[in-house]
Amino acid sequence: MPNSAKKPTIVVTRKLPDAVETRMMELFDARLNLDDRPMTPAELIEAVKVADVLVPTVTDRVDARILAQAGPQLRLIASFGTGVDHIDLATARQKGITVTNTPGVLTEDTADMTMALVLAVSRRLTEGERLVRSGTWEGWGPTLMLGHRIGGKRLGIIGMGRIGQAVAKRARGFGLSIHYHNRRRVHPDIEAELEATYWESLDQMLARMDVISINCPHTPATYHLLSARRLKLLRPTSFVVNTSRGEVIDENALARALAGREIAGAGLDVFEHEPAINPKLLELDNVVLMPHMGSATIEGRIDMGEKVIINIKTFIDGHTPPDRVLEQMF
Ligand code: 8YV
Repeated sequence: MPNSAKKPTIVVTRKLPDAVETRMMELFDARLNLDDRPMTPAELIEAVKVADVLVPTVTDRVDARILAQAGPQLRLIASFGTGVDHIDLATARQKGITVTNTPGVLTEDTADMTMALVLAVSRRLTEGERLVRSGTWEGWGPTLMLGHRIGGKRLGIIGMGRIGQAVAKRARGFGLSIHYHNRRRVHPDIEAELEATYWESLDQMLARMDVISINCPHTPATYHLLSARRLKLLRPTSFVVNTSRGEVIDENALARALAGREIAGAGLDVFEHEPAINPKLLELDNVVLMPHMGSATIEGRIDMGEKVIINIKTFIDGHTPPDRVLEQMF
């Protein structure tokens, strides 16, 4: 495909912002999904049979079964999003298919959402809103809707990459002190700037934090990292916020811990079996539930689309795309 005169066939699996789609139509033989209906596995198979480039999102499971059906023309999977746990990277590599993602441009938006959830759960925002909307609010009261102050508390960040660091910067502004657990300790300059305390032992950190934020990718190594056993290490006053992937927490165990008030609350933007929500979570007041909208700003989504386009263009022009994903990165 590189350097061919024919416009490459790009299959885009979901509706993207108009500006992105228009540019894709100008540059490529772009097959858009204007109805925005998520593709079935059968439709994905049809897509990989004809596409030179597939542009999937988190809602497409591009697994070995789908890739086994890919035609020889499929050379690039330019995913719209940073997480790549929906793509079988090993099979793609074996088939000589390059994979790219869109890191960086959704860092700030996702960090904003993380802080929004920290505040929402600790200050009971959605509970308060439900009270007002119910029409049963009887006016201000000195003990009404008491939450917890976050200033002066400890935030334990699991995964100190781009998003984890952006969360740390914001959290410092709210008076939280920063702790983190990461596969690798970050550069001493970053630790110094954030006044961050590193915990090699996740278990040790969990037992001492007031708020835990999940900011690591979902990989086989992080699946159920916050397991039933580890959730029991948390204090009954602690909050858990997850804007990464639902699979990093054992969701059933989390629901049990929240129901039993073994932890104080949770703010969840992501779920283990999206879009299905664990029914036990829906019954609880001490959990704030969001429909995976961490990067959902129009600016962010346009930037993500721009990155997808740059990755495709660079690849077609015969160069290594800037956001090439390699298995060893995760
Ligand atoms: C994206 C995300 O909106 O980029 C990611 O990894 O989780 C989201 O912010 C989604 O993945 C798009 O595919």
